[in-house]
Amino acid sequence: MTNSRIAGFYKLSLDERLDSLAKASEMDVEELAPLLTSGLLAAQEAEKMVENVVATHNLPLGIGLNFKINGVDRLVPMVIEEPSVVAGASFMAKLARKGGGFFATTSAPEMIGQMQVLDVADIHAAKMAIYEERDSLLAEVDGIDPILKKLGGGARDIELRVIESSPIGEFLVVHLTYDVRDAMGANAVNTACEKLAPRIEALTGGRVHLKILSNLSDRRMARVRCVIPVEVLAFETAPSLGLSPVGGEKQVLPPQGEGFRKGAEGGSFSGEQVRDGIIEAYAFAAVDPYRAATHNKGIMNGVDAVVIATGNDWRAIEAGAHAYAARDGKYTSLSTWGKDVDGNLVGTLEMPMAVGIVGGATKVHPTAQAALKLMGVKTASELAEIIVAVGLAQNMAALRALATEGIQRGHMSLHARQVAIAAGASGEMVEKVAAQMVTEGVVRVDRAEKILGGR
Ligand code: MEV
Repeated sequence: MTNSRIAGFYKLSLDERLDSLAKASEMDVEELAPLLTSGLLAAQEAEKMVENVVATHNLPLGIGLNFKINGVDRLVPMVIEEPSVVAGASFMAKLARKGGGFFATTSAPEMIGQMQVLDVADIHAAKMAIYEERDSLLAEVDGIDPILKKLGGGARDIELRVIESSPIGEFLVVHLTYDVRDAMGANAVNTACEKLAPRIEALTGGRVHLKILSNLSDRRMARVRCVIPVEVLAFETAPSLGLSPVGGEKQVLPPQGEGFRKGAEGGSFSGEQVRDGIIEAYAFAAVDPYRAATHNKGIMNGVDAVVIATGNDWRAIEAGAHAYAARDGKYTSLSTWGKDVDGNLVGTLEMPMAVGIVGGATKVHPTAQAALKLMGVKTASELAEIIVAVGLAQNMAALRALATEGIQRGHMSLHARQVAIAAGASGEMVEKVAAQMVTEGVVRVDRAEKILGGR
């Protein structure tokens, strides 16, 4: 049984982290090594993935701690270049545990394939002809991939849409819904559409132009909910901007009286203030696309980090998320925040989640394999549930910071390290230069260079 709570993880050396991760996940250190050793994707393997390969490119991989999802502890690998994301998600997961953790569900893993049918003389007759052949069309698709069928997947439905007005006038669109089980499914769907096209042409008398999956995979949804007891939201910021990791191990203090102060000198926030601040922030994203884009970007900070760690197609997830956010004709928030009858904070997130655990980079990339093992994921649905939980945690981390002390306070301590490195600091000097810049409140490369030069 994995234990996702590893106290003081951030204080350990890289080797010690590997050991404690192995202990917490009951895995061998060797199995986990690809998570902490950079560059394990050999150029020879990379060459089989894309064209013109000359190298591989590494990004930081951190572990999202404290996650409990549907009663199960999960250690979550997150690949991301942005400071604060891993710590923010881990801290919010810690708060969510106080309300039982995250509760997540998924729909069946059904993808949509689209066929654009042009030059149809009689659209109504064409529709009828396809409907009459529905069962045999589905059977034909099932014949293409008998293994998927055996695993419980397969073609599920044919749906027809008439596009009445477009730059080229009217045309017909055929949707094939296809249960792809634990695959991401792009290859299965695209193959099925290409194979089905000649029969669609014969039935409609038209010409099947595009045959490709839709990334608006709204038949393959993941949903998550968390309840945060209002009292655990209270906190106090330290008067100085120390270099303790953002959020990760920050102590949650009881409310310090009614009022709260805010600003560089620090402040205290009651649970109710934090809760209401988060709900007000959500209201902004719910109605304003300019804010919703940033709000959803915060969700995708968490989502993409896990999608990338597991070798999945993050562009597909991004495309699906934003198309879904605009499904009613106006771009809006993917998450919701409100309170329950007891005054506790309740968050939800719903989004399409087309991820797989078989095939593609998930199979080829050693780090992706180790990431899936560490999470103990057995199905693509379980992975999807973890991903939305991290997205919701990340959203809450951002809203909590924005609604209270502002985003820069937490961001700056980690950002300062990057600035120090950019100015040429190494070893112990990274912390020293970063700490001094943060104390001075000036986090800039020119200042870091001066500190390094003893000025
Ligand atoms: C930064 O990467 C993400 C945030 O802008 C998200 C948000 O504003 O909700 C902090």
